[in-house]
Amino acid sequence: MSEDDKERTVELHYEGGVLKLPVHTGTEGERTIELKALLGSTGMTTLDPGFGNTASCSSKITYIDGDAGILRYRGYPIEDLAAGATFLEVAHLVIYGELPDAGRLKEFADKLRANADIPADMGTLIDAMPRNGHPMALLASAVNTLAAYYDDSVDPGDEDQVELATIRLLAKLPTIAARIYRNSIGEKPISPDDSLDYVDNFIRMTFGDVHADSELGDLFNKAVGMLLVLHADHELNCSTATVRVVGSAKADIYASVASGINALSGPSHGGANQAVLEMLEQIRDSGISLEEFLERVKAREMRLMGFGHRVYKNFDPRSKEIKELAGQILDRDENPDELFALALKLEAAALADSYFTERKLYPNVDFYTGVIYRTMGFPTNMFTVLFALGRLPGWIAHYREQLHDPDFRIARPRQHYVGSPERRLPGRD
Ligand code: CMC
Repeated sequence: MSEDDKERTVELHYEGGVLKLPVHTGTEGERTIELKALLGSTGMTTLDPGFGNTASCSSKITYIDGDAGILRYRGYPIEDLAAGATFLEVAHLVIYGELPDAGRLKEFADKLRANADIPADMGTLIDAMPRNGHPMALLASAVNTLAAYYDDSVDPGDEDQVELATIRLLAKLPTIAARIYRNSIGEKPISPDDSLDYVDNFIRMTFGDVHADSELGDLFNKAVGMLLVLHADHELNCSTATVRVVGSAKADIYASVASGINALSGPSHGGANQAVLEMLEQIRDSGISLEEFLERVKAREMRLMGFGHRVYKNFDPRSKEIKELAGQILDRDENPDELFALALKLEAAALADSYFTERKLYPNVDFYTGVIYRTMGFPTNMFTVLFALGRLPGWIAHYREQLHDPDFRIARPRQHYVGSPERRLPGRD
């Protein structure tokens, strides 16, 4: 706490008296009331469903101003990173705090290349999983088993082990994801190629050489890299909060990241990119007008997927970048992609409707990603896996940051009990 902070307090007046609570000021002037003394001094807890008002930790990784539509990793605006940094540079920035210089980047990339293979047994295990199962379920299960294959890197108290696990997770997740995809289409896995960079290698392990050397292939690889950058961290979203909660019990990083993957799979979170595409297909196939569809959303029969955000009450800056990218890829010829065209119309119709503007509902990161992934050849159920590949640096960075937090404690929220008062089993008074 700074000297300046110590001067600032708010007073809580309650039945038993007045409690002065310290107010902390963050880097950008945002203020946070510290409640550590509340329960001990007043006997009261706070009720904050969905943690809408609760900062559960201090963090130096990502800054979001949801009203202004600002997102920065380690101080760098997302727009600059999307335009001028590779995914590996951004992963390094998010995890270690700084962009790597050329030497450090080479060292980092070489380590990832050297660790990209998975054990043969693990490949057999993945191959034995249900081929029609949802790839997110398979991905989380496979990542969980990494702790068993690599039990020399499961101690959160040993920095070298955490670093080793960091490299293994980053190196192996694309290999695992690509294998899951190839199993789903009945094709043999493709081994990592250590002559390729991180993103190109993932795409080759997924699709083989279909797009190699073509102008479109280059554009796709660039687009995947940029989408991974745009997903790399987003402070305490549901999956990252999950990684921190699981990690707070001193669970190893593999178990914590596997839990994050499971949280991400939900349609209110990362699963929304799949849900958006399914929604667009449903609108197209049913022939329903956009007006009719929006009326059903307003009648609360369904949500407009890819719209709304807990933090952004303005445009999600990632969505702006992704919409532009979608335009570059999908408007290349005279016949624009029909689902992209539909998404553009749906966005315009929603933003012309006071239901959405009054609630400050704008397109989020998931609204336009699906149409891009679909054009590249990814099946709908792989979209959230791509989100997971992008979010991995964020999960790792938060897990590691928490280990060094002086306020680190097991995450253990309180509850507001409204159940039955004490009662007795019948006939046993
Ligand atoms: N469609 C229709 N109405 C909505 C939507 C939506 N997508 N999102 C919020 N609302 C309404 C909601 O009904 C409520 O209205 P009222 O005040 O009249 O009851 C109001 O807006 C506030 O909604 P909320 O549910 O309290 O907001 P939240 O912060 O709890 O939820 C959200 C945030 C992202 C879960 C929600 O906006 C949503 O379900 N969106 C659709 C799913 C989606 O796109 N998820 C991806 C989120 S961004 C990336 C990520 O996290 O992976």
